[in-house]
Amino acid sequence: MTESSGTRKGFNTRAIHHAYDPYAGHGSLNPPLYLSSTYTFPTVEDGAARFAGEQAGYVYSRVGNPTTHLLEQRIADLEGGEAAVVTGSGQGATTSLLWTLLAPGDEVIADKTLYGCTFGFLNHGLAKFGVKITHLDLTDPRNLEAAIGPQTKIVFFESPANPNMRLVDIPAICAIAHRHGALVVVDNTYCTPYLQRPIELGADYVLHSATKYLGGHGDLIAGAIVGPQEPLLQVRFHGLKDMTGAVLSSQDAFLILRGIKTLSLRMHRHSENAQGIAEFLARHPKVAVCHYPGLESFPQRELAKRQMKLPGGMLAFELKGGIEAGRRFMNALQLITRAVSLGDAESLAQHPASMTHSFYTPEQRMEHLIAEGLVRISAGLEDLDDLLADVKQALDAA
Ligand SMILES: Cc1ncc(COP(=O)(O)O)c(C=O)c1O
Repeated sequence: MTESSGTRKGFNTRAIHHAYDPYAGHGSLNPPLYLSSTYTFPTVEDGAARFAGEQAGYVYSRVGNPTTHLLEQRIADLEGGEAAVVTGSGQGATTSLLWTLLAPGDEVIADKTLYGCTFGFLNHGLAKFGVKITHLDLTDPRNLEAAIGPQTKIVFFESPANPNMRLVDIPAICAIAHRHGALVVVDNTYCTPYLQRPIELGADYVLHSATKYLGGHGDLIAGAIVGPQEPLLQVRFHGLKDMTGAVLSSQDAFLILRGIKTLSLRMHRHSENAQGIAEFLARHPKVAVCHYPGLESFPQRELAKRQMKLPGGMLAFELKGGIEAGRRFMNALQLITRAVSLGDAESLAQHPASMTHSFYTPEQRMEHLIAEGLVRISAGLEDLDDLLADVKQALDAA
């Protein structure tokens, strides 16, 4: 599959080559891994010029490192953004960006369903510092139109949302937010730029937990922020350098550069496996509902086709037997691994109410549309027949 157009190289070519010229160094096929916390200055005057931003070059790896910089260029290019800042975790990306953009008195309007620690940061973190947090059902853009006001600085959402797979119409939300002078931040972790590019759909910033599909192998924790060049300098020099210090190590940047080379291949396989599992679950008599954007029964199927290249590797479902049946199902799994996180080669299953979304109270989970019995599956890269056999025997036991 190619995505080349005009002189711009295709997605896969850019995922492998963008911004690296092997002939500029020693001809090394892979980019060098720079393991240095600090950088030397030929003279005091050079050091001063670098600190003042008047001379190109690195100063200290909390602010920049050549290996992490290459990763930033690559992620920005793939997301269709001007620039990127990579961080030591997805949580570090969210916090570094929002601490930079917000001030007391501002309002964040966020979707009802968010990853648990994002919910925690907004409601237990930012809210303590005079930022108003409002949760709306952004799957209906009219809710935003009715609530947005002069205080609203940021509209924040995931699409699909973790864990219940609700989709948000990115262009529709961006049009309303921008008419009211607000910025739109999209957590694109579930999709990656291969499946969905929110900036091309109108968003101002994209966030990633690069721990997931971008790294792709479950061996690191990382994040990324993509957006316009100038504000991202503020994010780098204030949000990241001074406020969170959530810096990515160059070794992990190297591993993510390696992971991204196979991103599109992996996303196709994740999607195929998720589609197969979702279709099996949706037909099964013990299953009450299966949420997957690739199912014809998915209520937002048309929106999924419009803004996602493929339905992705994540799905969630509820058993008719409720939370207890969900627990029995999970404990009976033999191949699919009981673990949080997602986007790895291994298929993973988790129970949001007792794991990733235990940050919410039971009442909050109900209000935020996270069913107590919901089971989330991250479809890995194994053979579909083996995954289906495991799901089947676990359903029998449930
Ligand atoms: C949608 C989403 N955003 C952000 C995060 C936070 O990322 P990290 O665990 O890399 O800090 C996660 C983690 O699961 C996530 O699922």
